[in-house]
Amino acid sequence: MPISKITLIGSGTMGANIALHFAAHGQAVSLHDSNAAQLEKALRVVRQNAALLSEHGLITEAVDTVVARIRLEPEFESAAAGADLVIEAVPEKMQLKQRLFMQLDRVCGPQAILASNSSTFVPSSMAVGFVSTERKARFLVMHFWNPAHLMPLVEIVPHPDASPPVVDSVMALLVRCGKRPVVVRKEIAGFIGNRLAFALQREAMDLVAKGVASPEDIDTVAKNSFGRRIPITGIFGTADLGGLDVYLEVCRSLFPDLCSDRTPPAALGNLVRHGRLGIKSGEGWNRYTEAQIALLNESLTRELVHQLHRARRDEKAEAPQE
Ligand SMILES: NC(=O)c1ccc[n+]([C@@H]2O[C@H](COP(=O)([O-])OP(=O)(O)OC[C@H]3O[C@@H](n4cnc5c(N)ncnc54)[C@H](O)[C@@H]3O)[C@@H](O)[C@H]2O)c1
Repeated sequence: MPISKITLIGSGTMGANIALHFAAHGQAVSLHDSNAAQLEKALRVVRQNAALLSEHGLITEAVDTVVARIRLEPEFESAAAGADLVIEAVPEKMQLKQRLFMQLDRVCGPQAILASNSSTFVPSSMAVGFVSTERKARFLVMHFWNPAHLMPLVEIVPHPDASPPVVDSVMALLVRCGKRPVVVRKEIAGFIGNRLAFALQREAMDLVAKGVASPEDIDTVAKNSFGRRIPITGIFGTADLGGLDVYLEVCRSLFPDLCSDRTPPAALGNLVRHGRLGIKSGEGWNRYTEAQIALLNESLTRELVHQLHRARRDEKAEAPQE
């Protein structure tokens, strides 16, 4: 069941870079957005990021060759019809996604696999309007991480009725395109990555609320302790490194004391109410000058590129010799 025609619906932060990633790995992609001006903007972003991939040696083809694989499709029906795989990356609004999948179910051929890039919604909550049960067998979440052309992980969350060969063909496509996909075995909100990341966010915000430390000091702790090891040892590997007898005692002593709030902290709501939205407004938990924002973006890109090169080197070293 080879996937050759890929369509992206939604060309914002995620859609544009997912399209770029597939194009950079030789796949033809159709990119659709309900906002025509956004489509033009997405193409500029794609070209800029393709140039960056080239500059850092992550693609060897000409930037024009990669960009030419992306076809802008202002018409929804021509974008979707004939696709083998449609990935939606429209805003995280349940009714919008439900409606879109209902339309895709009607327009797409029976061979099409439908996928959502949702950050939190499980497939069965979005698949409410499918006419045939066969479509549920071809429906899943493909959760890419931002920036999608530089972050390796894609979480695959199959619909409970999804067929294993469909999941296998999506996994094969992603591996062929240099991603590190992981199948989430049961539907669960937020999947794996965001559940882990937000457990950390909740505890960090609670420490600030209790006056234990400033956001800056908490970031210093994270960046200079477990954050250093995680790229090498992950979560369970870190525990194995430390010794599970030690971890058991720490869990016993610490779990009763950790934050278990079920609602976001007041401080976060206050920041949002006052327009302190983070980098995009120049101020969030921290304040940022234009120069600091540029430096932060540059350092993040440099680090992600470095990690991709290291992963490629490690894979080559681990590959069986001919
Ligand atoms: N931004 C992130 O860090 C991130 C990471 C992982 C997953 N996601 C998920 O990806 C999805 C998209 O997020 P984003 O950040 O790219 O959003 P975005 O707002 O940047 O882009 C969404 C795009 O969808 C278009 N759109 C809206 N309704 C449409 C419709 N009916 N048909 C076609 N296009 C339509 C908009 O014009 C816009 O260009 C969300 O589900 C989000 O939760 C986001």
